[in-house]
Amino acid sequence: MARLEGKTAVITGAADGIGHAIAQAMAREGAHVFLSDISDAQGERCAAQLRAAGHLADYLHCDVAKADDIARLVDTAVRQTGHLDVMVNNAAIAIGGMPVHEMTDEQWQRLIEINLTSVFRGCKCALPHMIAQKSGSIINMASAQGHIGLDGWTAYAGAKGAVMAMTRQMAVEFGPVNIRVNSISPGTIDTPMNDRLARQIGGNLAKAWVKMHPLGRIGKPCEVAEAAVYLASDAAGFTSGTDLRVDGGLTAAPRYVPELL
Ligand SMILES: NC(=O)c1ccc[n+]([C@@H]2O[C@H](COP(=O)([O-])OP(=O)(O)OC[C@H]3O[C@@H](n4cnc5c(N)ncnc54)[C@H](O)[C@@H]3O)[C@@H](O)[C@H]2O)c1
Repeated sequence: MARLEGKTAVITGAADGIGHAIAQAMAREGAHVFLSDISDAQGERCAAQLRAAGHLADYLHCDVAKADDIARLVDTAVRQTGHLDVMVNNAAIAIGGMPVHEMTDEQWQRLIEINLTSVFRGCKCALPHMIAQKSGSIINMASAQGHIGLDGWTAYAGAKGAVMAMTRQMAVEFGPVNIRVNSISPGTIDTPMNDRLARQIGGNLAKAWVKMHPLGRIGKPCEVAEAAVYLASDAAGFTSGTDLRVDGGLTAAPRYVPELL
């Protein structure tokens, strides 16, 4: 039996990268997935491909910087299916590669809005439904950078560290109503976000990423998606308040290779 049969899953930032891989994996496991993004043409295409493969998938526009968009996304999923079992707060942006004193207030505020406030809003919209049905799994996308330091990424790391702290807090608060709240901390994953960063920062960054991970490679989006499927599934029924690192050992044995940067 598929691991997410009969479940409704909402995923933000699902038109590309890790979010798209999560939507694909959850749909294959039998969930009715609601993909959302700001890249509408691409998101519609992803949902159409899943439907063509026989899965249950819908796409909705949702800019996670807009409270109304998130509320509409969650409400649509619940109206269409009658329940909400999995909320994946995945969408985020990378603003960094600069010392903290060179970051503008506008850059800081945009990053916090999209990477942190969006998680608050996603949980705020999902929780009333999950509380009413007395079940649910919330998965928040954190990062290895919430665990270790790297030059130039103070704001991004701050947001991800806060995502993990909020995850623990909500796990405690909503455990008594059978809602599990967990986060995932990926290492470097092969996604458009990192393609853009490698181009922006240049040098041997891509090679350095490989060396920094004890497994000797960067990760694939589908490897993060597998962790999300597990946390969404009943197999993780006693797992809450945890951060699952999918980082090739990066945070266990940091290998900073300055000569390659
Ligand atoms: N790629 C990595 O190495 C890595 C490592 C650690 C954590 N993460 C985290 O994983 C998540 C996904 O990262 P990714 O690498 O797949 O990113 P990505 O940039 O490749 O894809 C992100 C998706 O989110 C969408 N998006 C951007 N802004 C949005 C907004 N305001 N509202 C809704 N959607 C928006 C984009 O259109 C895109 O489809 C993020 O939370 C990121 O911080 C990624």
